[in-house]
Amino acid sequence: MCGIVGYIGTEQAAPILLDGLEKLEYRGYDSAGIAVFDGENIQMKKSIGRLKVLSELTHDGATMPGIAGIGHTRWATHGAPSDVNAHPHFNGDASIAVVHNGIIENYGKLKKKLMSKGCEFRSETDTEVVAHLLDYYYKGDPLAAIAHVMHHVEGSYALGILFQDHPGEIYAVRKDSPLIVGKGKTGSLIASDVPAILKYTRTVYFIENEEIVRLTADSLNFYNIDEEEIEKEPTTIEWDISAAEKGGYEHFMLKEMYEQPKAVTDTLNPRIRGNQILIEELGMTDEEIRSVKKIFIVACGSAYHTGVTAKYVIEGLARIPVEVELASEFRYRNPILSEGTLVVIVSQSGETADSLAALREAKAAGVRTLGIVNVVGSSIAREADNVIYTWAGPEIAVATTKAYSTQLIAEYLLALKFARVRGQITEDELADYIRDLKRLPQQIELLLNNKTKIQRFANRYLAARDVFFIGRGVDYAISLEGSLKLKEISYIHSEAYAAGELKHGTISLIEEGTLVAAVLTQEELYKKTMSNMVEVKSRGAFLLAVTNTDNVEAEKIADYVIYIPKTNPYFTNSLAVIPLQLFAYYVSIGRGCDVDKPRNLAKSVTVE
Ligand code: G6P
Repeated sequence: MCGIVGYIGTEQAAPILLDGLEKLEYRGYDSAGIAVFDGENIQMKKSIGRLKVLSELTHDGATMPGIAGIGHTRWATHGAPSDVNAHPHFNGDASIAVVHNGIIENYGKLKKKLMSKGCEFRSETDTEVVAHLLDYYYKGDPLAAIAHVMHHVEGSYALGILFQDHPGEIYAVRKDSPLIVGKGKTGSLIASDVPAILKYTRTVYFIENEEIVRLTADSLNFYNIDEEEIEKEPTTIEWDISAAEKGGYEHFMLKEMYEQPKAVTDTLNPRIRGNQILIEELGMTDEEIRSVKKIFIVACGSAYHTGVTAKYVIEGLARIPVEVELASEFRYRNPILSEGTLVVIVSQSGETADSLAALREAKAAGVRTLGIVNVVGSSIAREADNVIYTWAGPEIAVATTKAYSTQLIAEYLLALKFARVRGQITEDELADYIRDLKRLPQQIELLLNNKTKIQRFANRYLAARDVFFIGRGVDYAISLEGSLKLKEISYIHSEAYAAGELKHGTISLIEEGTLVAAVLTQEELYKKTMSNMVEVKSRGAFLLAVTNTDNVEAEKIADYVIYIPKTNPYFTNSLAVIPLQLFAYYVSIGRGCDVDKPRNLAKSVTVE
């Protein structure tokens, strides 16, 4: 989703802004722009399309001299992608420039009021309202004007602001949209995400809701909405910039798929001591674990899919009822959150607007909340009662792979911990489960090394129109993910169905040559799914099967079989996902799609 960068210091700002924006490209965007104070005026350049266009337009920033500036990559919400709707936005006389992430919900009302006062709008964006509103309240003190605006706008925002009257300063402010600031060797920086400024500093300040920052070349001052100065603690970023670079791989997605064995190990190992599972961050006593009556797993996208798997695993192992829900539904449906309910929010970014809102709903209802989050210090991580971090490292490709795999691990650990504490599994059984978990990284590696077979198969299906994924139990959960992965990066229509549900409608879509990918990793369900495979095959489907090495029977029905090594039936998704990721990846690149930055999608969906 949109990205923000800001710089004020002793170096030329424009190249630093362009460089920072490039690091945020992965978040998804459709246009980009920068504004730089040239000593007299604020100059602005913006353009629809890739950042490359903006770089060419400004000769890599050389035609925009100045040591203070703000930049933005936009993912359209209000107003179509266009040069004029791209950020930054000016007030009437171009003396204030604003970049904005988020959505101003009451912008219609504010725009009407401002227009009645004579403001002329150039764009269709909600952001332009902020620029005009700042102008309206500005009486020489930027801080006072910003605080005033904050009292009037509703919605979410992270803003970077330049005032022509205050050339030695830039301002940053946020509510419900991530923003960080930091000080580098030559100046101060703003960013919506760490990779944009990691080259310049490792010490960053996470801006909290309704906090304002005044940045000068050598100082950072923090204020609350009442304009009182406040103290903030910095955070040191532990990971290296190389973690956010391709490191020789053709695409981030491929690199991140290959990082899965390590990511899984890093998430698993610190929580295993001998044959015990220790999740100190859980912050729950055994008594509290025993008193859990119900678990909600709430998330979006692939994180939601891990929740669907976790439902089978937690209910199966710990015998606690689990409801899995899309955050966008949960937040508005007034769910029954009674005593003994634990709400688990799963999120890679920790900033997904719906997941964050769902977390707040749960907190407001007074139930215990737990985040399973990848980005350290993100909003969900900070606001949940407790957080289990998935140590996947920075994930750049829009389509998640390694974060997904680590979320599964965190959920398995939770299931096993609860199962043992509640007496549902014995010490010996736990030891067996742990042994199988520890084998996963190696098994994942094995599957990754088998990629040419999948690549060959994928190349035959580049022209597919529809693909169906079917499975039962956890195989249904992985079908959801396999289908999403394929459609999001290859733009081929695909659907996932619980295999037994096919004949209630979807089977009518099967035609001669339609690709159906069947996942069968649950021994007791092999026969059931195989009869569904026969049903589609007899209607002309071409069948791909992903199954366990011992299920050679599948070859009798399927046209192509991919085997996964044997593991505990609860953990098979960690393995079955690998060929499905590889399949989606190779179809995507075979079709010439932008695999890391698929159209219309964003890495972190920070607006509703
Ligand atoms: C976007 C991403 C998905 C991700 C989903 C939830 O749609 O493209 O890959 O699964 O958001 O994101 P989160 O950061 O909350 O896991």
